[in-house]
Amino acid sequence: MREIVSPAKAIHGMVTLPGDKSISHRYGMLASIAGGVSTIANYSTGADCQSTLGCMAALGARIERDAENRVVIHGAGLREPAGQLDAGNSGSTIRMLSGILAAQPFTSSIGGDESLSRRPMARVIKPLTEMGAKIDARDGTHPPLTIHGRQLHGIDYTLPVPSAQVKSCVLLAGLFAQGDTIVREPVRTRDHTEIALREFGAEIAVEKRVITLRSGARLTGRELFIPGDLSSACFFMVAALLMPDADLVVHAVGLNPTRSALLDFLVSIGAAIKVLDLRQTTGELIGDLRVRASRLRPGVIDGALTAALIDEIPALAVLGAATGGLSVRDASELRIKETDRIATLEANFKRMGVAIATTPDGFDVAGGQKFHAAELDSAGDHRIAMAFAVAALAADGPCSIEGAESAGVSFPEFFDTLREIAK
Ligand code: S3P
Repeated sequence: MREIVSPAKAIHGMVTLPGDKSISHRYGMLASIAGGVSTIANYSTGADCQSTLGCMAALGARIERDAENRVVIHGAGLREPAGQLDAGNSGSTIRMLSGILAAQPFTSSIGGDESLSRRPMARVIKPLTEMGAKIDARDGTHPPLTIHGRQLHGIDYTLPVPSAQVKSCVLLAGLFAQGDTIVREPVRTRDHTEIALREFGAEIAVEKRVITLRSGARLTGRELFIPGDLSSACFFMVAALLMPDADLVVHAVGLNPTRSALLDFLVSIGAAIKVLDLRQTTGELIGDLRVRASRLRPGVIDGALTAALIDEIPALAVLGAATGGLSVRDASELRIKETDRIATLEANFKRMGVAIATTPDGFDVAGGQKFHAAELDSAGDHRIAMAFAVAALAADGPCSIEGAESAGVSFPEFFDTLREIAK
């Protein structure tokens, strides 16, 4: 599907976002393996999080959803699925769920779409094999995975790449293992799994990036609320910061400190962002944000900051090119996301006449560049579709975005919301 986005002069209004994608996956999985009933308010409307619910339903969880995005899950112990589990486009689903499947008393298989079938799974196969699992993959690393469930044992595992998905996979497997499971993180990554495990009743200790999970916990169903997704908010924040005239309020967005490096980074380059009404809900921080037009300085993203901002980099690249410029390093992980995001950023910038110099692990874009009207292409990647829809607001004429429907992977309401706030 092709969307046309016309240039805008201002961003005004208030936006409410779908529930956080990362938290939705975790609550969906944990509620399905917990005993009793969980009620999850503001569950993500994105297709990725539906993939997780589809897999959990195929594994025996009873799941109901109402028009208000409230999901009720009756956990009932998992059973062998009738066919291959479908993770769709979702790396989080396949990687995290593999940890649960590896510990079940049955064999299952899990795959996904063409993009997911190209993504590396050795990063979860390795620790799960160390825990005693047996997993077959195409070429040893690509989906579909055939997971022969076994009794696992806890391990002490140091993450070789900063990855919350891998950390979560090992912790979820650890729930069913004999003996404690320890995960050590050289670089801090999002900690929604640790928080969610505690909320569902697991015994988990975190000290200086060392996470210890006690085996044998019995999880129980809960009432939960999912904050708005800060990674989705980022597109509108960037849109506001690109405009000469902007005053935007983002309502009830998740501000977990392992995600909110985005705000610190934007403020450090001169963005006028205020956090209003900070509060806590089921272990997660939540607040309202006010973003106003700002004059921005050049930005550098490298080291641990790259891991903390990995999903926001496409939008921040667009912001940098239009304002003060941006350099990104230590981001080779970007090349193995839903697309090679360094390549898909470069291809779309080229179409708009924007210069970008890429490296194997990052790129440099000079600031103050003119964005020309162009035919853009998401290449099926939701974050590229949304980043370039925002770029189109700053172009010198209407742009078309091919594959715009991919925004639905995390944010089906994106284009409607954008039209409401762009003037
Ligand atoms: C996620 C972790 C990140 C992120 C992805 C969601 C999660 O991936 O890019 O969109 O929910 O844990 P990695 O853990 O592979 O870095």
